[in-house]
Amino acid sequence: MDKPKVVLGVSGGIAAYKACELLRRLTESGHDVRVVPTASALHFVGAATWSALSGNPVSTEVWDDVHEVPHVRIGQHADLVVVAPATADMLAKAAHGLADDLLTNTLLTARCPVVLAPAMHTEMWEHPATQENVATLRRRGAVVIEPAVGRLTGVDTGKGRLPDPAEIFEVCRRVLARGVREPDLAGRHVVVSAGGTREPLDPVRFLGNRSSGKQGYALARTAAARGARVTLVAANTHLADPAGVDIVRVGTAVQLREAVLKAAADADAVVMAAAVADFRPAEYAAGKIKKKDGQEPEPLVLVRNPDILAEISAERARAGQVIVGFAAETDDVLANGRTKLARKGCDLLVVNEVGERRTFGSEENEAVVLGADGSETPVPYGPKEALAETVWDLVAERLG
Ligand code: CTP
Repeated sequence: MDKPKVVLGVSGGIAAYKACELLRRLTESGHDVRVVPTASALHFVGAATWSALSGNPVSTEVWDDVHEVPHVRIGQHADLVVVAPATADMLAKAAHGLADDLLTNTLLTARCPVVLAPAMHTEMWEHPATQENVATLRRRGAVVIEPAVGRLTGVDTGKGRLPDPAEIFEVCRRVLARGVREPDLAGRHVVVSAGGTREPLDPVRFLGNRSSGKQGYALARTAAARGARVTLVAANTHLADPAGVDIVRVGTAVQLREAVLKAAADADAVVMAAAVADFRPAEYAAGKIKKKDGQEPEPLVLVRNPDILAEISAERARAGQVIVGFAAETDDVLANGRTKLARKGCDLLVVNEVGERRTFGSEENEAVVLGADGSETPVPYGPKEALAETVWDLVAERLG
């Protein structure tokens, strides 16, 4: 089989050096990559680097190799075009259909999915001109990855950083795997909770669970690759930040509830993949609890935590909002799942069987997705991202 053809567009920003790593990841994972830098990108990283790393010729202008008409051919034959970094100028040109160099020509001739990873100073990103250009590009079907927040060139920090190349690669991989031009969650805001809550007993101890957050992160990544604006409410996770996803970090169930309710206010869908503690210690000891010689420990008194899934299902923040829960069961998986779906009042419930070695922390999952409409969608044992895609397929169907 032919290798998938990827065009890596690079525009003129300091983050151009990070595109070298993206290029490596693309070539090492079996993609045929043609790098198309802009003339100003070559001020940051030279053509020799792009050519050596890609194993392909590099040109910036439509006048190079004119007999081959590359300005038309490169875009037409591509399976994916990714531009990283995309400067404010590049976004403006792409939004307005300008075609004054090879990269902008390629963007106009491409009929494949397009991923744009902007990087610029915060002021430029926030400028209404840029925001309108981004909205235009998204409306037309491009996946525009939200920039990350952090250190920018020089001493300033803010939104505008190019996300980690490994995470941009993940977006590209998912977009390529779906192979569709129209991202079906474009214009949607989705909220995903991930990880496991920790309920503190004292400053050094907590009641926790073994959720790694991997399923929730897979849901966030796949939704972003399908064009959604994603808020990821992450409880005690230690995973790489997915590109283009807004992350809210929380510790306890009460904090998770607050973050989910806030984000859900304007969300089209909420997926509760987090393992939320049902109980918390009735009292928090401000100082470390000490053992006392010759005395038995005090019994631990627990109180109920709010059931967030049941609450957001009962009081939907928006009409038509789709709510998805997860159920981890050890016995009578389907029967318990049906009862739980009815009790929680959500639209979909992903039921999986758990145990010592199953699901928690692993890369794979097996599940059945139960629908409030009586539907039953089995998802065979496989990567957590395959389950995530099925969840979004079912959500997208319900969003209509
Ligand atoms: N959940 C929640 N708030 C809680 C507990 C759970 O929102 N306080 C959500 C989880 O995020 C998950 C779903 O509810 O999506 C199922 O959680 P689970 O713990 O399996 O169900 P429980 O209601 O705790 O039922 P049981 O303990 O009886 O299995």
